Amino acid sequence: MPPAHKQPLPNATLPTHVAIIMDGNGRWAKQRGLPRLEGHRRGAKAVRSTLTAAFEAGVKYLTLYAFSVENWKRPQDEVGGLMRLLNYFLKQELKTLQKNKISLRTIGRTDALPPSVRKELAATIKATAHHKDRALILALNYGSRTEIADAAAAYARAVAAGKENPDDVSWDAFARHLYTAEIPDPDLVIRTSGETRISNFLLMQSAYAEFIFTPVLWPDFGKAELLACLAEYAKRERRFGQTGEQVAGREKSEK
Ligand code: IPE
Ligand code: IPE
Ligand code: MG
Repeated sequence: MPPAHKQPLPNATLPTHVAIIMDGNGRWAKQRGLPRLEGHRRGAKAVRSTLTAAFEAGVKYLTLYAFSVENWKRPQDEVGGLMRLLNYFLKQELKTLQKNKISLRTIGRTDALPPSVRKELAATIKATAHHKDRALILALNYGSRTEIADAAAAYARAVAAGKENPDDVSWDAFARHLYTAEIPDPDLVIRTSGETRISNFLLMQSAYAEFIFTPVLWPDFGKAELLACLAEYAKRERRFGQTGEQVAGREKSEK
């Protein structure tokens, strides 16, 4: 597997890794006079169709921002409802993961999740670990700043143990300590619901990602919306600091 920082070829038409900030469940429910939790339930259905469509299209890694470190600040009953829904989702989707040969992984401080969720996560991760080609990565109790702090602590421990040398520090060496150490950087980051912010999601890993902000609310997202995002991505020119001419030359020499 490529290290986290490894840059893909510029302008490969299909992203290897798509990461999604699934936003707008609350507004979807509000528009219909329904409780927020109903929006989250419909959001879980959107996860199923998006996930199937993404892997069918050839995406290898799909990261979904499901619960942020900041989301604990929501009303207790909403947090509880989200955790129950997550448990239900994991039980339901094991079949989908097995059928499509997808492994489940997580990023975030999952040890702070309720014991029932931790148990279900551990069981699903174990049951799907043999699928090496495709991964669904759930960002749970995830925050980029927390991840950097955790990585800094892990790096410091590695230095103390003589396994890292700070004189040779590089992004590659540091990135080995991120939650995403084994996962390539996202090529495409999508946010639904019309908000144009990152909300503490994969800040470092998306340094060179393409971004798509769509007004569609997450429960209304699905195969058609995902395919539209992939088509938009295919039109983008990724330069990684080079000139357009250099990138065009590099592409030609690869053909
Ligand atoms: C995203 O939908 C789901 C989570 C953050 C868990 P929201 O619940 O944030 O929906 P809005 O932003 O209130 O519409
Ligand atoms: C981001 O959505 C977190 C998830 C999608 C899990 P939020 O709805 O929590 O983000 P803000 O608060 O609008 O920035
Ligand atoms: Mg929101």
